[in-house]
Amino acid sequence: MIKIKQKSDKPLEHKTECLILPCPEEKKPSGMVQDLDAALNGAITRAFENKYFTGKSNQTLLLNSTGCLKADNLLLVGVGKAKEVTVEKICQASGTAAKLAEKSNFKSVTVFLNECCFDQISKGKGGLYGELAGAVAEGTGLALYHFDAYKSTDEKEDPPSRVGQLTLIPALKTRQATVEKSISRAEKIISAVHSARDLISHPGNTATPTFLAEHAKKLARKNKITCKVLGKKEMEKLGMGALLGVSRGSHEPPALIVLEYYGTSKKKAPTVIVGKGVTFDTGGISLKPPASMDEMKMDMSGAATTLATLQAVSSLKLPVNVIGIVPAAENMPGGSAIKPGDILKSMSGKTIEVLNTDAEGRLVLADALTYAQRYEPKEVIDLATLTGAVLMALGHQAAAVIGNNANMIARLKKAGDATGERVWELPLWEEFETAVKSDIADLKNIAAPGVGAGTITGAAFLKPFAGDQPWAHIDIAGTAWGEEKPYTTKGASGYGVRLLVHYLEHR
Ligand code: BES
Ligand code: ZN
Ligand code: ZN
Repeated sequence: MIKIKQKSDKPLEHKTECLILPCPEEKKPSGMVQDLDAALNGAITRAFENKYFTGKSNQTLLLNSTGCLKADNLLLVGVGKAKEVTVEKICQASGTAAKLAEKSNFKSVTVFLNECCFDQISKGKGGLYGELAGAVAEGTGLALYHFDAYKSTDEKEDPPSRVGQLTLIPALKTRQATVEKSISRAEKIISAVHSARDLISHPGNTATPTFLAEHAKKLARKNKITCKVLGKKEMEKLGMGALLGVSRGSHEPPALIVLEYYGTSKKKAPTVIVGKGVTFDTGGISLKPPASMDEMKMDMSGAATTLATLQAVSSLKLPVNVIGIVPAAENMPGGSAIKPGDILKSMSGKTIEVLNTDAEGRLVLADALTYAQRYEPKEVIDLATLTGAVLMALGHQAAAVIGNNANMIARLKKAGDATGERVWELPLWEEFETAVKSDIADLKNIAAPGVGAGTITGAAFLKPFAGDQPWAHIDIAGTAWGEEKPYTTKGASGYGVRLLVHYLEHR
């Protein structure tokens, strides 16, 4: 992970391989850009005149300083119109700049925390300065994620160039304490998101339920968290027929991982986070087609987010109580696997007719949600790569959120907009709850084909297990994995950690 520090240098006198300057969209350079432009004999003005650079979001201009600055190179990155700048745009611009710097083989970079690019700060909202610094640090650190645990010889002998150091220059000396706090928070967030991405990136033959449990135990040892792992025997005693049913086709034993973090009085009801931990989803007897099946190693993204959120919350010492619950299992076909038509008895006592063994996420979640009731939670949030349908509805741009409490959903939306990890609400109308009632058991795990709304019927199935307290289900099948974005790399995004940390910080 990148090292981050601050230095109170003047940008013109700062020695670095690459000085990055976030710039607002404007007609010609102003503020600090003007000073740098003068030192560069008008090179930036000419770029503006020729429209090589205007400051549009994520636009970049890399200039060699040809000895005119102490910095070897100057990298301008656009953040869009100063009036419309948000923390998310700063985060994106920082990620874009960091990736270009790495491609350019720079080993260290400096970012000048240019408050001119943030109209609201210039207008006196100084409190936002910490967020500016935090966004630059997070955007940079998150963009420079690499997963090379399985790269051998070639790349180890001739390793790719990496940016290992980020220096932040505050605009004013009086901002130093704020920047220090932001750096410390950003480092913890980056580390947590990276650990979620690592877990998701590991293939199914490494990241088994047992591996997730070992990871959780290590995490608990390092932080002020307690960890409990229930195995098959304990699940049998508790009557977790749904979770056990999913794991039956696999040789990998299932695990129910429970992490408890108490940041305030134990008497205060906790927030419980439940994360789907299907370490590989073949579909089971309702086997998936081979194309892209390899990607189903990411079907434990909800689990990874849950574990990483507990890591972040405990390292940040947030004054909240949070319980993380991960039902982990591998979904395989096999001689003892569950079959379409089988009926399972869940821990809640409700019976479930399994009409499609590929709708296994809701089965493992059913028992985990029932287990969550032991904590008499204030609220329950579950995260799951539950349906391909959410990709049809929202693509990779937002997760679907469905729940039973408007206020909770509004607060999740707010956290999503602030962090760029957006959620979008879908309606849980009664008709969808009816659609998952079975003729011969209490529930069936898929609705009839004509019903449609696959993401909503998934949530409708979960509702009877979720309890009466506020509950929100977040379907992350579209957001947990995808193509490269300004501050994520191709593959695992680590979506949800920053969303939930922000949500819990603003309880
Ligand atoms: N793990 C999948 C959902 C998924 C799809 C995650 C694409 C990530 C990307 C889930 O277990 C599943 O297979 N869902 C089925 C449900 C259907 C059988 C009702 C689906 O979406 O097709
Ligand atoms: Zn499935
Ligand atoms: Zn699945």
